[in-house]
Amino acid sequence: MWLLLLLTNAFVLLPWAGAGRIIGGKIAAAHSRPYMAFLEIETYSEPIHCGGFLIRPDAVLSAAHCVDIKGIVNVTVILGAHNIRRQEPSQQRIPVVKRVIHPEYCPDDFKNDIVLLKLEKKAKINDYVQCISIAKKKERVGEGAKCNVSGWGLTSLKPSWSDVLMEVELEVQNEKRCHFSSDYKRQSMICVGDKYSEKAAYKGDSGGPLICKKKAHGIVSHGYDDLIFPEVFTRISYFEPWIRKQLKKFSRKIIPCFPLSD
Ligand SMILES: *[C@@H]1O[C@H](CO)[C@@H](O)[C@H](O)[C@H]1NC(C)=O
Repeated sequence: MWLLLLLTNAFVLLPWAGAGRIIGGKIAAAHSRPYMAFLEIETYSEPIHCGGFLIRPDAVLSAAHCVDIKGIVNVTVILGAHNIRRQEPSQQRIPVVKRVIHPEYCPDDFKNDIVLLKLEKKAKINDYVQCISIAKKKERVGEGAKCNVSGWGLTSLKPSWSDVLMEVELEVQNEKRCHFSSDYKRQSMICVGDKYSEKAAYKGDSGGPLICKKKAHGIVSHGYDDLIFPEVFTRISYFEPWIRKQLKKFSRKIIPCFPLSD
């Protein structure tokens, strides 16, 4: 089993390969996915990078395995980015003050691979930074649904990752495709992929959202061995009540997700 997370200190050292994609995807139009967050996870050893997405001005959703790591020093969220290697004026860097990993997250089989990150201050909502709605409890996405996933992760099986945001369209699969693994849980996971293995989310894309009909339905979680098909996403609809409860704990006030004039 592999994690869709990028564990490397070479991130800033390696030259950028010109070609390559999220795997079979394309470069996202700049700032067309303003909910995307880039997670900088500083540890005592190597920094780690993951994706995430803004669901409220003070809250980012991601995968638990991104931050369930020994020796984390701190986590910073970068919003409003297209090219993560540049200091774009649209970018907002906000430290994370609280990480709420699902209490039943299990690192051995990636059950409940979800974390809610509380930001130190509210993100400024503008053209470049916006929230995405999450699937409600009853909105279960099914086989054949077409969804997009985006990230700054590896763009091929060989190490070559992207400095700009990439995206790819994937299809929700029949659960039987993932049932070969006893760790697959149909209630809380989504079986996703491209059966021709030409397109996929891959390492470094962990924590990013699976967007179907303009709502976040999944979180990039894990795959099996060296296969890029199928892959498993955390099913957001199953966790929606838990997410709402945590958000209330962050702040009892209603925090709207639209630009506030000050
Ligand atoms: C995925 O994103 C592209 C834009 O790059 C869009 O044309 C397409 O409709 C999206 N697909 C879905 C299923 O939302």
